[in-house]
Amino acid sequence: MKRIITYGTFDILHAGHINLLRRAKELGDYLIVGISTDKFNEMKGKQAYYSFEQRKAILEAVKYVDKVIPEDSWEQKADDIKNYDIDILVMGDNWSGVFDELKELCEVEYLPRTVGISSTKIKEDLMKLKEENENK
Ligand code: CTP
Repeated sequence: MKRIITYGTFDILHAGHINLLRRAKELGDYLIVGISTDKFNEMKGKQAYYSFEQRKAILEAVKYVDKVIPEDSWEQKADDIKNYDIDILVMGDNWSGVFDELKELCEVEYLPRTVGISSTKIKEDLMKLKEENENK
């Protein structure tokens, strides 16, 4: 049984997230997703549209995801890898090299991001649409 873990905010779930989750699951048998809590996002200067509980419920409904856990600090990854007996840490390649020190504990793979989509872009596009409609 090969166990995979990945992390992210996963706000406003989109095709880039699904591609990442599908490819992560294909590397093994059991996929755990650590999602940033609202407090951790605040520390990172990020604000999600959906609350932690909503993002968790949405991700739990994705067929590639076996378990969702909270991510509330940068340092917890090493403990999670040990506690959940993880074989591979998967991250999008916007994090390339950042978690290489964890290679002592498990494999670390950076997967290419899906081009042209992000939660931030969706929010910006919706904002533009709203402004366009208001100026009509
Ligand atoms: N991801 C991806 N392709 C995208 C967007 C995200 O593969 N186009 C991956 C990220 O690399 C990360 C995971 O999905 O491993 C969760 O990313 P997250 O930061 O929550 O998503 P973004 O859409 O990038 O969010 P934001 O715009 O708020 O940074």
